[in-house]
Amino acid sequence: MRHWWEDAVFYQIYPRSFMDSDGDGIGDLRGIESRLDHIVSLGADALWISPVFPSPMKDFGYDVSDYRGIDPMFGNLEDFASLIAAAKRRGIRVALDLVANHSSDEHPWFVEARSSRSNPRHPWYLWVEDTGRPPNNWKAIFELGSAWHRNEATGERYLGTFTRHQPEFDWRNPEVRRAFYDIMRYWYGLGVDGFRLDVATAYIKDERLRSNPFSPRLVPDLLQRHLYDRNRPEVHEIFRDMRKAADAAGERVLIGETHGQDHELAASCHGGANDELHMAFNFDFLNQPWSAEAFRVSAERWYAALPEGAWPNFTLSNHDQNRHAWRYRGRTEEETEARAKLAAAMLLTLKGTPFLYYGEEIGMTCVRIPRRRLRDPLGIRTWPFWRNGRDQERTPMQWDASPGAGFSSGEPWLPLNPDWRSRNVAAQEGEPASLLSWYRALGRLRKAEEPLSRGSIEFLDLRRGVLAYDRRIAGGSGAGAAAGAAADAAAADVAAADVAAADAAPAATVRVLLNFSSRSIEAPTNAGGRVLLGTHRSEGETIQAGPVILGPCEALLYSLSR
Ligand code: GLC
Repeated sequence: MRHWWEDAVFYQIYPRSFMDSDGDGIGDLRGIESRLDHIVSLGADALWISPVFPSPMKDFGYDVSDYRGIDPMFGNLEDFASLIAAAKRRGIRVALDLVANHSSDEHPWFVEARSSRSNPRHPWYLWVEDTGRPPNNWKAIFELGSAWHRNEATGERYLGTFTRHQPEFDWRNPEVRRAFYDIMRYWYGLGVDGFRLDVATAYIKDERLRSNPFSPRLVPDLLQRHLYDRNRPEVHEIFRDMRKAADAAGERVLIGETHGQDHELAASCHGGANDELHMAFNFDFLNQPWSAEAFRVSAERWYAALPEGAWPNFTLSNHDQNRHAWRYRGRTEEETEARAKLAAAMLLTLKGTPFLYYGEEIGMTCVRIPRRRLRDPLGIRTWPFWRNGRDQERTPMQWDASPGAGFSSGEPWLPLNPDWRSRNVAAQEGEPASLLSWYRALGRLRKAEEPLSRGSIEFLDLRRGVLAYDRRIAGGSGAGAAAGAAADAAAADVAAADVAAADAAPAATVRVLLNFSSRSIEAPTNAGGRVLLGTHRSEGETIQAGPVILGPCEALLYSLSR
């Protein structure tokens, strides 16, 4: 059985930065609602909204002080209901970001817990005796100090591996589990279609609190292999429980942030019997250089690591990583733009659910933010190493060339990227050659051509520098294949009568050729067809079997003739 998330294109919204409806400089739910048609225009049909729960905002919502509400800066539960209804009317699903590894230190549970050792909430969090020294080498990664923070009232230390304001739950405690399973059901009841699970593989820590061994990697590991403060095997039991509840609530999706430098570990979070998370985030593309070969190796490795029946996913950017248009910038603006188009074509045509990050569709980049305007605790702590902070990938969405970029009538909470006057949705909207138009065309094509969402994938060895693959639906089975075959056959100028006759047999194949190099490359292909979409060629053009000369950074998608 197909599930909706397997066909979906997700779009991540960082709510503070997407659209501000009330002029306070911070995005909100009404703002998101007012821009849903933009999301539809991309062919995206599912949202992941970063946390909107009440929060003291020490980590901008990733420190929750009430798991059942909406922070007033984003709106209220009525606004939320209105957003869900408006999204549903447009066929858009909504996944929330559940931060269940830790709460805010201002959450009433923690306020109670820290008040005395005998408080019933005390065992909901993780404590050690304060002997004057932390019990191990675990780090608070946004503070670069120990993860064990003093609590004078009880003479103990509590665990916070992000900031001291994010005390961590003891997920071995059945009461904590029950509380979160109830919270999940509560949001399902309000029409939420699933959750992105924040740092899901951190829920369980080593019972003996052993120190992490050394790792040569500074970022993001802080020179430690996270063997003991994350990635404990007992976490799978929790995933199985959550999965059962999600399935019982009917077609809800669980997407785990599985903290992955390790793709095998991430893949294992789907469960051996595909009975855990529906998708574990595949972050491997975030670490790849600009290279056709590197992306291919990464994708193939991910497919191979997934257990039977598990569904892949890909992403190039998110709120914790430098935007990919910036990471893959070329020597000229044109080259940067061309690479962004190529990256989008790859993301939206590989086999697996793509996750887009707001603003990538207009090629938003990263820019250094002056020290006094930094907001991210990590950026403030690691200043002047600006690439470690995360503010630069969270700057407000650039809707138009007006003073607040169409994002806000007030002073935006983070400075706009100074390129907003030229790089914005309004400017790119009417431009057939713009990146935005390219994303929209890819989104339309993905919906129209079934092989692109459901087909198998086969990589082709053409030439160094060219990423090439076929997406293929096997023929002769059901309406989908027949419709695909019909479209394909029509494109190949086959007479209508043949199309009807073809119902029993033909397959539909979309071939994707992506030239990652900045020079022309002759690629030998064994099959011709008709162009569906291309950066250098028009729809409907014929491609002959034999050598195809791909221009610099050319993306070419064509349907194979049979
Ligand atoms: C995840 C989030 C990140 C947050 C951290 C702590 O990694 O993506 O933004 O700061 O968890 O909740």
